[in-house]
Amino acid sequence: MWTDRRILDLFGIDYPIVQAPMAGSTDANLAIAVALAGGLGSQPCATLSLVDIRRQFEAYQQQTSHPLNANFFCYAEPADDPATDARWLNRLKPDFQRHSVQPSDIPKAARYSAFNHDHLALLDIFRPKVVSFHFGLPEPSLVAAVKALGCVVISSATTVAEARWLQRNGCDAIIAQGAEAGGHRGIFLSDDIIRDAGQQPGTMALVPQVVDAVSVPVIAAGGIADGRGIAAALMLGASAVQVGTAYLSTPEAKTSAIHRAALRSGRDDQTAITNVLTGRPARGLVNHAMATLGPLTRDAPDFPLASKAIGVLRAKAEAAGAGDYSSLWAGQAVGLSRELPAGDLTRLLVAETQACFGRM
Ligand SMILES: Cc1cc2nc3c(=O)[nH]c(=O)nc-3n(C[C@H](O)[C@H](O)[C@H](O)COP(=O)(O)O)c2cc1C
Repeated sequence: MWTDRRILDLFGIDYPIVQAPMAGSTDANLAIAVALAGGLGSQPCATLSLVDIRRQFEAYQQQTSHPLNANFFCYAEPADDPATDARWLNRLKPDFQRHSVQPSDIPKAARYSAFNHDHLALLDIFRPKVVSFHFGLPEPSLVAAVKALGCVVISSATTVAEARWLQRNGCDAIIAQGAEAGGHRGIFLSDDIIRDAGQQPGTMALVPQVVDAVSVPVIAAGGIADGRGIAAALMLGASAVQVGTAYLSTPEAKTSAIHRAALRSGRDDQTAITNVLTGRPARGLVNHAMATLGPLTRDAPDFPLASKAIGVLRAKAEAAGAGDYSSLWAGQAVGLSRELPAGDLTRLLVAETQACFGRM
């Protein structure tokens, strides 16, 4: 059935389906369910403390010996920029007033962390089969150290140039993330991500061009939510797919009630790419913050600093039952979401893909 076995053999999985790591929305429970159904389960680590990452790795390994994908963000910590901070606080003034927030309520640090030597030490203990990065790769010595542990290294490319760069810098496989994708854009080879975020290719155009440009296997991501999408991606030359939004509605995901409700009513024309929630372009269902502050603006501080003030507003609004400042990340195929247990969804995706190929 699967004529291209490159990803299946590289990762040691039965089906060419990677459950996307989704920071803040998924943990070991979802990864276990997908792994037991024959896909690749992923553990996002970008918003977790070291203690919590360890707990999730332990929980996973207690339930299954299937391969795991451990996922990290990589970015340089932005320098202090008082002028941008002042401009941003000024933009947020009406929101602060509406929710009785003081600038002193804003936490000192953002909840994100970039891949570092402490994470490497945890990888040394748990040795996940796959380590994936978002926003490029960490410094070359860290990439070499991860590979020396025997881990397969992968990362997201949003353009052909990024795919070539990732292959040159040691990636064993490349996720081609089309513009339809929910969550943060993996964009990293750009001197102006706000300008370039609006010019990125969709999955249908990106995947075959990346397949032609690199020799390592390609994983298609963005707007893939059922067997038709998977079959199409495989026809375009992808060796596997990475599915995010479709897994957010499974009971095993940690998706908040507010986010689940938004996904349930979300339609194809209701998402946009915004930087107002974290400082980096990401696709989500349009809410009050995105509509009034952006969706893209040069006023927001760099990632991850923009998330600090928004986080205070988010907590206030969510306590009142509103997602006005929440990251309602979702891809353009949100309308294809099905509320099924993750194992059942994975098996259904496989069966639907097989049915598509059977019809040809
Ligand atoms: C809620 C959410 C959170 C995400 N968080 C991460 C993350 O932590 N790391 C990562 O590499 N990709 C993350 N992504 C992007 C996914 O890896 C993937 O590119 C995307 O979900 C694919 O598009 P789709 O949502 O249309 O399936 C996230 C996506 C969503 C929807």
